Amino acid sequence: MATILITGGTGVVGKHLSKKLKEKGYSVALLSRASHKDTDIITYTWDIDKSEIEKRAIEIADYIIHLAGANIGQQRWTAKRRQLIIDSRVKSGQLIFKKLKENKKNLKAYISASAIGYYGTVTTDQIFSETDPPSNDFLGDTCRQWEQSADRIEKLGIRTVKIRTGVVLTKQGGALAKIITPVKLGISSAIGFGRQFMPWIHIDDLCGIYIKAIVDTQMNGAYNAVAPDHKTNKDFTETLARVLKKPFWFPNVPALLLKFTFGKMSEIFLKGSRVSSEKIIKAGYRFKFPTLEGALVDLLSKKTQ
Ligand SMILES: NC(=O)c1ccc[n+]([C@@H]2O[C@H](COP(=O)([O-])OP(=O)(O)OC[C@H]3O[C@@H](n4cnc5c(N)ncnc54)[C@H](OP(=O)(O)O)[C@@H]3O)[C@@H](O)[C@H]2O)c1
Repeated sequence: MATILITGGTGVVGKHLSKKLKEKGYSVALLSRASHKDTDIITYTWDIDKSEIEKRAIEIADYIIHLAGANIGQQRWTAKRRQLIIDSRVKSGQLIFKKLKENKKNLKAYISASAIGYYGTVTTDQIFSETDPPSNDFLGDTCRQWEQSADRIEKLGIRTVKIRTGVVLTKQGGALAKIITPVKLGISSAIGFGRQFMPWIHIDDLCGIYIKAIVDTQMNGAYNAVAPDHKTNKDFTETLARVLKKPFWFPNVPALLLKFTFGKMSEIFLKGSRVSSEKIIKAGYRFKFPTLEGALVDLLSKKTQ
């Protein structure tokens, strides 16, 4: 079976994806900033600032999945943090390009994460699809540069797929773990106006889309990875409260409070674009969890993942 090298594979998505790939019989290796002895998956290291990748990592890879990137929701977006968010995705992508070129390495495919932030955070009813241009705000610009680093790899003649990902729902870690705490305490309410869209995807479907991108040689370019059930922030929290059998009645969390607490980063909670899943469905992907209610029932009933 083919070997898949995953950058940033120690994160929320990478851990699930590695497991699913191994279950399917793929050989998985990780590319990380640090060596990890505590895992049964072979880990190679890279140093993006020094432009170094362990040579063997490139040699063994049939496919590369590029997930690495500093978390966008972990710290305030200071100028330094914004630069790190960009560099960790773009310079790393450029480094992979450089090493592939230097080693004349021909991958079967290069699959890069991207995000629905590509379309910006715009609260309207417009449904954004893959042919829409990138927004000129921070997230849009980050995703544009991130995808451009993947496009350079496509120019080497390597099939390249970009997965514009929505909010990934998992039981452990990620966004749901943060959203669920107040709801469990019975103090759920919408954020800001609550009308902002929250394109979401169950982790199993995201992994399913990555696996489809490996096996489906017709897949090329950008695909939105969001479920077809469009939910606003208010709908999302209401559904979560219903699934948990908790009340939904508190006044909305004021936008000003979030702006004060999180600064510019509050955008990711207060605004949100509506995003289409049509292209990936037309490509033949069948969502295992097309509705939010079904996804939440599944995630909240599982003991472990
Ligand atoms: N989870 C979501 O809801 C979501 C939504 C949209 C897009 N995405 C994108 O999908 C990708 C994977 O998401 P995730 O949730 O798995 O992310 P994550 O849990 O934050 O993990 C990302 C991984 O990237 C590596 N990393 C962190 N900081 C880095 C830095 N400064 N330079 C280089 N590498 C760094 C780390 O791996 P090592 O420590 O092993 O190097 C980390 O485990 C990310 O690029 C993310 O932006 C995720």
